[in-house]
Amino acid sequence: MAEKGKKVTVGGKKTGTEEAKLIPVYVMGKRYMVPETLTIMKALEYAGYQFIRGCGCRGGICGACATVYRKPGDYHIRVGLACQTVVEPDMYLTQIPFYPANRTSYDFSKLTANPEEIFKLYPEVFRCIACNSCTKVCPMDIQVMDAISAVKQGNIERAATLSFSCIQCGLCVSRCMGELPQYHIMQLARRIYGSMIAPRAQHLKEAVEAAKSEKCQQALQKLMKSDIKQLREIYQSREIEPEMADEDWKPSKSDYL
Ligand code: FES
Repeated sequence: MAEKGKKVTVGGKKTGTEEAKLIPVYVMGKRYMVPETLTIMKALEYAGYQFIRGCGCRGGICGACATVYRKPGDYHIRVGLACQTVVEPDMYLTQIPFYPANRTSYDFSKLTANPEEIFKLYPEVFRCIACNSCTKVCPMDIQVMDAISAVKQGNIERAATLSFSCIQCGLCVSRCMGELPQYHIMQLARRIYGSMIAPRAQHLKEAVEAAKSEKCQQALQKLMKSDIKQLREIYQSREIEPEMADEDWKPSKSDYL
């Protein structure tokens, strides 16, 4: 049971344990009482576990916290991101710190945008039987099977676009009976697309040109000649974008841009 009076996080607020409803969960087979509004990650920490691996951003972005669990009377092995999935009564939890999958090594500078390159590096892509298990398990709601189909059709742009939100958690691999490393294949498609297919961004081109300009170089030289105290002053007096700024926000002083 939680210590009486100990503060816990409930739905983003700090509250006393007496206000939080505690529910039982099982971690590696051991029963713990945890506040029902915690995520799996916070519940594990509440139960006394410390993350050394299998935890990164805590915001559903890095893909480090893939977790498998079961619920009572339910045969399915369920999966989720520990930092995003809220605990449920009698959940049986465990951690999978890393989901191993075949990752072919390649020299990216020697690759071209020809889909044959992906086929050679990942011939297992043709083992896909279109069962769609990878899509069903994806915590980011990516149409993984469709992205893999796009790779098979040689449509790298579609594969890259469909998988843009992939966080490389590897859960797709955990369900694949064709033993495909979907997340690595889709990542290669995105790399090829970003590097060799996507049209160059005009604003980026302009920003690079601006960075090379005399005005920008002078500002950089000035910074490089500043000592640590001056650098701190410059940094602390900078104009900061407000937290709730709208999309059109621009700094009032932009002559250095
Ligand atoms: S810790 Fe980064 S996705 Fe969960």
